[in-house]
Amino acid sequence: MKITRIAVQGAAGRMGRCVIQAALAMPEIELAAAVDRWDSPELGEDVGSFIGGEDAGVTLAHDLATATDRFDVLVDFSGPDATVTALEVCRKHRKGIVIGTTGFSNEQKKLIEQAATEIPVCQSANFSVGVNVVLKLLGEAAQALGDAYDVEIVEAHHRNKVDAPSGTALRMGEVVALALGRDLRRDAVYGREGQTGVRDGKAIGFATVRGGDVIGEHTVLFLGEGESVEIAHRATTRTNFARGALRAAGWLNGRAAGSYSMQEVLGL
Ligand SMILES: NC(=O)c1ccc[n+]([C@@H]2O[C@H](COP(=O)([O-])OP(=O)(O)OC[C@H]3O[C@@H](n4cnc5c(N)ncnc54)[C@H](O)[C@@H]3O)[C@@H](O)[C@H]2O)c1
Repeated sequence: MKITRIAVQGAAGRMGRCVIQAALAMPEIELAAAVDRWDSPELGEDVGSFIGGEDAGVTLAHDLATATDRFDVLVDFSGPDATVTALEVCRKHRKGIVIGTTGFSNEQKKLIEQAATEIPVCQSANFSVGVNVVLKLLGEAAQALGDAYDVEIVEAHHRNKVDAPSGTALRMGEVVALALGRDLRRDAVYGREGQTGVRDGKAIGFATVRGGDVIGEHTVLFLGEGESVEIAHRATTRTNFARGALRAAGWLNGRAAGSYSMQEVLGL
C-alpha cells in the first residue's frame, strides 16, 4: 500500500480538526505535520489530544517551511492569504497541495494557476463525493432543460463563514453557465433589492443564507413554465469533506505538475 505523508494547514480550525481525525483513521495516510497561526492557543499541543483523542505524536506548529522534509502533500483548509504563503513553500520544495480554502481574489487565483505549472495542485471548493456528483448532474440538467428554465442557486452555511456566495455555489453556477453557453462574470446576479425590474432570462441568481451551525446546503432551482426542478445537496458532517481531501492527497502524491479537480480524482 502506498502511504502518503501529509501536512495539514489550518489544523486547529473546524476543517483542520476533521482532516486530522480522518487522517488518523486512514491507513494509507500518515499525518506528518500540522500547522496553524503563530497565535493559535493550541500551538505546541499534540494534535491527537486537541481533537479529543490519544496522542498522535504530531505537535501543532506554525512554520510549514521547517516541516518540508517530512510530508509529500499539504492539505490546506485555512484562509486565502495563508494558502498563498503555503503555496510558495510547496512550490519551492516541490510538494503537492490540496486546496480546500475558498474565497480567493482573481490575483490569488492566478498565483495558484502559476504554481500548478510547477507542482501538482488539486483545488476544489467542495471535496465531498456527493457535491461532485451533483456538479455532474447539474451540467446534464442545464443542457437538457436549456434557456426556458430560470436558474437560481440558494446556499446556507453557519454564522462563522466569511465568504459569500460559497465557493461551491459559485462552482455550481460556473457548471450551469458552461452548459448553457453563458458567462458567470456577466450573467450572475448576487442578491436582489428594491426596483429590480423583470428577471433577465440569462441571469443565474444567487441567494445566501448565514446562521447557526449549518455545515453546508446548496439547492439549484430550474424554474420553468408549469414545473420546476430542484437539485440539492446537504452536508450533515464535515467528515465527508475531510475524507475527500485526503483521497485527493493520495491521488496527487507522485503526480506530474498540473491543476487537477476533485472530479478527476473521482474519475467522474
Ligand atoms: N473545499 C471544501 O470541501 C471545504 C469544506 C469546508 C470548508 N472549506 C473552506 O475551508 C476554509 C477553512 O474553513 P473552516 O471552517 O475550517 O475555518 P476555521 O476558521 O475554523 O479554520 C481556519 C484555520 O486556519 C487557520 N489559519 C488562518 N491563518 C493561518 C495562517 N496564516 N497559517 C496557518 N493557519 C492559519 C486559523 O487559525 C484556523 O484555525 C474556508 O475557506 C472554508 O470556506 C472548504
